Order: sequence, then structure tokens, then C-alpha cells
Amino acid sequence: MPVNVSSETVKLSLGASSVEVALKGATVISYVHDGRERLFVSSKSDIRTSDSTAIRGGVPLCWPVFGPPPSDNELFSKLKQHGFARTSVWEVADQQDSQEGVKVVFKLSPTEAIKSVFKLPFTLTYTVDLRPYTLVLTLHVENPSSAVAALPFQAALHTYFRLPQGVRPPDVSVDGLENLAYNDKVSGEQKVTERRKEVVVDGPNGEIDRVYFRAPNELVMRFKGQAETVKVTKSGFADAVVWNPGPKKGSTIADMEEGGYDRYVCLEGCQVEPFVYLDPGKDWTGTYEVSFDQ
Ligand code: BG6
Repeated sequence: MPVNVSSETVKLSLGASSVEVALKGATVISYVHDGRERLFVSSKSDIRTSDSTAIRGGVPLCWPVFGPPPSDNELFSKLKQHGFARTSVWEVADQQDSQEGVKVVFKLSPTEAIKSVFKLPFTLTYTVDLRPYTLVLTLHVENPSSAVAALPFQAALHTYFRLPQGVRPPDVSVDGLENLAYNDKVSGEQKVTERRKEVVVDGPNGEIDRVYFRAPNELVMRFKGQAETVKVTKSGFADAVVWNPGPKKGSTIADMEEGGYDRYVCLEGCQVEPFVYLDPGKDWTGTYEVSFDQ
């Protein structure tokens, strides 16, 4: 069976590729391509729907805020960092098996728990589409309200790429960010211009945490001394984030497995600035596609 739905996860299979998605957060927790796991998930993560913490790894979906909620808007005052989508239980709305690949559509609408922290109506659909050579993730946001209020949000697909054997974060670089403005969340500097053609995943104490604005729709991750590359192709998500906490901060993250910070780099497709303001009846789509070159 190309799609296997269990009480906690949904598994999609296509030849030597497979994807597993936890219903908690519709978090993609595994992507096996060409027989190899491509995502990092900390072994300290709890993927069960009965647990309310976010999964440390895979592809957490951040919505309706990215990072700490803004303090100047009452609407977001009860939200936690990265919002509630990554910890809410999603439902399976559809599944399709076609010539092109295998697809599962997940859906999230306001529950009583969500309404207690976020009062605006919304419908989120998230399509996980496994194709022979790529994984395509599509977030679709609708404002079903008939009132006048726009639905403001940020969004991110917070992908934790597992590094190949023997590769550490400082051996990783990202192409495509040259000349972009970025906020450096480590130094606190805002709207700095990136001068490097290849951004090395390193910083003070090994930490890097940057939001690049208006990032191109194609970004490439390279590994020192290796021919293999990871290609991210996005649309809708205007921005991109490069994050790794480094050993000092990484070892203080409660749900990080021992040394886990050395095994991944996050390259995220995001809509950080400005917030999207979705008028009633309107919708927004962001796509994020992952592929590999040898
Ligand atoms: C990144 C942010 O996207 O997520 C970082 O830029 C943050 O600032 C990181 O530390 C992890 O966030 P969390 O909430 O999953 O620990």
C-alpha cells in the first residue's frame, strides 16, 4: 500500500523512497530518498498526539507566527514560539496515488483549544507529495471569514536536513543568499547585507540563526568535499532561514539528543516579513520542494 495511516503517523511509499508524517503538527518526521534518511529527528522527541510539545526535527510547520509572537498585537499574545500548528493534531483529508507520485492532504481548522489562544477563523491544508526524485510540501491557507477582518500570519517549513556521514555544520554552506538583507538573531543586528556567495553554517560558538529576506526561489546546500547537494525550490515563502545552534547552545536544548546539533542544518522556507494579511475569502499558498544532486 503506498499510503499507510496509523493512529499517530501516515507513511507514504514510492519505490526506494518513503515519507512519514506525524499527525502531531503534520510534522514530516522521515524522508528516505535513495535508501537514505535525509531528515534529522532528535531521539528525545515525542511524536505522540497525546504529547503537546513540538517535535525536535523533521519538518515542523510554523504558523501563524514564526519565532516569538510579536508583542504589539493582542491577537498573538497567547501564542507560543512558532505558533500552534506544529503541536496541533491534524486530520487526514485526502490521499492520492497517481502516475506522478503519492500524495496525502492534511487539514487543520480551529479546535476549542486553538480558539482559546487564537480567535480568527482559518483553514490550513498541507499536502505532502512524494515523487520519484523530489518531495513537495505545499501549505495552503484560507480565510473563510465573512467578516471584514484580515487574517495575519507568518509561516515556515522548518526543515532539519540530516547531514551526510562525517559532515558537521561548519562543513556545510548555502548558495543563493549573496546580496540579501538578513537579520542576525545571534548578534541582534538587523538588515545586514550578506556579502558571501557561499554562506558557511558557522558563527560564534558554532551558532548561526539568520532570516534572509526575499530569498531566491532556489537555494543549494553543499557539503565540503562531497559532490552531493541538496536543492530547495520554494514559492510563496519569500524568506529563508539558516539555523544551527552550535554545540554550546545546542547542548542546552532539552529535547536535543546527545550531540544532535552536529547532525543537521535547518534551511527553512519562510514568510517572516511582512506578515501576510489575508482578506476574507482569500487564500495563500507556499510550496517547498526538496531534491538531491549527486
Ligand atoms: C529557528 C529560529 O527557526 O528555530 C531560532 O530562527 C530557534 O531562533 C529555532 O531557536 C528553534 O526553535 P524551537 O522553538 O523549535 O526551539
